Amino acid sequence: MCEEGFKDILILAIESSCDETAAAVVKNGREVLSNVISSQIALHTLYGGVVPEIASRKHIEKINQVIEQALEDAKVTLKDITAIAVTYGPGLVGALLVGVSEAKAISFATGIPLVGVHHIEGHISANFIENKELEPPFICLVASGGHSHLVVVKDYGEFDIIGRTRDDAAGEAFDKVARAIGLGYPGGPKIDKLSKEGNPDAILFPRAKVAENEYDFSFSGLKSAVLNYLNSCRMKGETVCEADVAASFQKAVIDVLVEHSLHAVKEYGFDKFAIAGGVASNSSLRTVLEEECTKRGIRFYHPSPVFCTDNAAMIGVAGYYEYLKGVRSGYDLNAVPNLKLGER
Ligand code: KG4
Ligand code: ZN
Repeated sequence: MCEEGFKDILILAIESSCDETAAAVVKNGREVLSNVISSQIALHTLYGGVVPEIASRKHIEKINQVIEQALEDAKVTLKDITAIAVTYGPGLVGALLVGVSEAKAISFATGIPLVGVHHIEGHISANFIENKELEPPFICLVASGGHSHLVVVKDYGEFDIIGRTRDDAAGEAFDKVARAIGLGYPGGPKIDKLSKEGNPDAILFPRAKVAENEYDFSFSGLKSAVLNYLNSCRMKGETVCEADVAASFQKAVIDVLVEHSLHAVKEYGFDKFAIAGGVASNSSLRTVLEEECTKRGIRFYHPSPVFCTDNAAMIGVAGYYEYLKGVRSGYDLNAVPNLKLGER
């Protein structure tokens, strides 16, 4: 009990939308009691990317174990759980189905209410874990392997997407360029590391602007420019400085993400800005945003790297706010691979 008369709300959260099988227990929305992540990265590395069928099979193998561990680490049992939150989209359909079926089964067997959560709402909500004072409204840049969104977070669970990618997501560009350089999967962390040894101004790669919407992103031209550069060097027999390519590519992505974000914060008149998603753990992006936000008097929020990449704690936080609003999912909850943010 937190105060007399108020019962703690404990959310058991499950996340299986891509290649991490994850479960967590979150208390009263912002306190993470446990956060268990079983990563499949080593498996998928063999194939240079996520193989959906393998991901689903591995989720099935791991999910019970991961949930039991999350309850054990939190020192609670299912009897203490107020609601079960589960990611039901967007993501890989087979992978999502494993988490959704598991959550429905536990809910059906125990009578614990079920709350379906949007994966991107989870990523945004990761900011609430370590920033107890952060409350909407604010602007959030969501940059992951599947999404690059600029979002006005109007309230808990209420969003306006003001910018999105027209083609590749930022993380996808990191992964594809890393593969071309020969760094392997997942590319983001590898490019982040290699860039530290390179010159970000060595090669001028393009920064695309989308004419119709100043907040939209496009990364496929940049990806092609890097591939063309690598091919032309190889054809001419020139040695490629991989660290310079990585650093110059990374700078091109960061320049665009930072410019669009700061422009949106200014135009919409907010003084709070947050980042989320796997790319938000990029060390250079965080440093640049920290500096630029400080210069402009904007408060900059970012989750720790473990809460940027896929995890269930963020789903528990989002699930808590949805639960408070009265959202309850039925046993007909299904995986929705292309679920839109803010839609149910
Ligand atoms: O959010 P996330 O774990 O999964 C999705 O919902 O997609 O994001 C994964 C993406 C991958 O593309 C990965 O390469 C990228 O985030 N990523 C990074 C870094 N760490 C992960 N990108 C740039 N720098 C990093 N340090
Ligand atoms: Zn994600």
